Amino acid sequence: MRQAGLLLLLIPACAGGGRSAGELAERCEGCHEDAAAEHAASRHAVAATSPVFLALVDEAQRSWKAGAFCLGCHRPAGGTEAGLGCLTCHAAYGNLGPGDGALLLDEGGPVRAAAVSGRAPHEVAPGGFLVSADLCGTCHQVEGPGPFREGPLDHWRASSAAARGETCQRCHMRGGEGAVTHRPVGLVGGSVAEVQALLSSAVRLSVAREGDDAVARLTAVADGHPTPDGAAFLRAVWLDLEVDGAVVATSWLSARLMAGAREVALPTEADRAELRGLAPGEVRTVRAPAGARARACLRFQRYPPALVEALGLDPAEAGPVVDVACAEYPGPT
Ligand code: HEC
Ligand code: HEC
Ligand code: HEC
Ligand code: HEC
Ligand code: HEC
Repeated sequence: MRQAGLLLLLIPACAGGGRSAGELAERCEGCHEDAAAEHAASRHAVAATSPVFLALVDEAQRSWKAGAFCLGCHRPAGGTEAGLGCLTCHAAYGNLGPGDGALLLDEGGPVRAAAVSGRAPHEVAPGGFLVSADLCGTCHQVEGPGPFREGPLDHWRASSAAARGETCQRCHMRGGEGAVTHRPVGLVGGSVAEVQALLSSAVRLSVAREGDDAVARLTAVADGHPTPDGAAFLRAVWLDLEVDGAVVATSWLSARLMAGAREVALPTEADRAELRGLAPGEVRTVRAPAGARARACLRFQRYPPALVEALGLDPAEAGPVVDVACAEYPGPT
């Protein structure tokens, strides 16, 4: 019995060639090909590489000496030169508080996991910080200068999704058939089809003739946080109402950058972001004098063109204008 026990202890040690998270860091990818491929294709793996990020970090360093603050989340501990790594999440056991990416890592300890299968050739610690919204909120809650104040963690804590126990992981790290995915999709890295699917799952859109008016109604049905949330001043999301083929009214959902009473293009010129997202359950109504036909469309662009221009980048960085969802009357013919 004792020998069998010893053998069981030794086999895992040999197979892993070391058992702590830190000792295995270079080798996670070799044994976990699916997780590694998804992570590599995610925005997390390249969080410190986008042209918009690189240009903005320079601005932030010049204006606020905040370059290191930015990198705390975009190139965090346990990661690579390009972004987050396996250990960033799988060796983390806590943080110094939300808002600056200051994760506490225990690289000499076990690999943190949702649950223990008993098949891992390395030490595993189940549950805890890895499966909590606090892990995500270490970075998805920003308490920085100017408009860099973002509240997804706080918004989620106050939500009905949180009351049901539905974490960020549950909505963003589960793919088909409930399997874990390491490529959480958002508004930057998703394909056009993925962004359409994600955003249109968050809202319901209708347009109707009411007396002399055409009225568009956009209702937020996603209840984890507002739509959009996070870095909403780095996105363009808006609702257009078209009557007889021309846009007659527009309502913005993405945030706008303000310096006093003036709208500005660069975050480093702004003292705040004015949020215009839809809280869970909120209805946004846009109306205009009716015509024979009306059409309402929720539209999206990856970055606001004015931001891309102010940073001196290729206008193509803003990405195409995407019709996320449209509704019309009297209805398609
Ligand atoms: C507390 C963590 C944190 C800090 C600090 C932080 N960010 Fe971010 N940043 C994020 C998160 C999380 C996202 C994704 C949010 C979303 O998609 O809504 C993001 C998204 C972005 C994006 C859009 C994605 C891209 O790569 O194009 C840019 C640009 C960006 N941040 C720049 C900055 C700059 C510049 C600073 C420093 C002034 C900074 N960030 C500081 C967490 C942080
Ligand atoms: C942003 C944080 C984060 C990063 C980065 C990350 N993981 Fe995960 N990983 C998680 C979370 C959270 C779970 C548990 C998800 C659940 O069960 O809901 C998980 C689950 C897993 C699982 C078990 C489920 C499965 O897919 O079989 C493996 C294995 C895994 N991760 C490996 C990796 C590897 C390898 C890397 C680096 C290439 C990595 N992870 C990077 C957060 C992360
Ligand atoms: C020598 C191969 C090997 C290496 C190296 C390795 N793992 Fe694993 N890991 C496994 C196997 C086998 C399992 C059992 C689950 C399975 O069968 O897929 C597992 C399980 C896990 C789980 C789920 C917990 C459980 O009990 O099943 C997580 C999370 C995980 N590994 C993360 C990592 C991370 C992060 C690294 C790098 C620090 C890493 N692994 C390195 C082989 C390896
Ligand atoms: C160490 C900091 C950090 C942690 C921890 C973290 N993220 Fe992120 N996340 C980021 C940054 C930075 C970005 C923006 C990357 C970019 O687009 O350049 C981001 C982007 C995203 C996006 C948007 C991707 C896209 O295509 O626009 C989603 C969704 C996301 N994270 C979900 C999660 C979830 C869920 C968790 C918790 C399991 C988590 N993140 C943990 C830093 C973090
Ligand atoms: C009930 C499901 C649900 C929960 C819980 C949830 N989200 Fe989301 N999330 C969504 C949906 C749907 C969208 C797309 C609509 C939008 O952009 O808000 C989204 C969008 C995002 C985006 C990309 C664009 C944006 O709006 O910022 C990020 C980043 C993100 N969520 C992070 C988080 C984090 C971090 C948590 C936990 C603190 C969380 N989410 C909890 C459903 C959820």
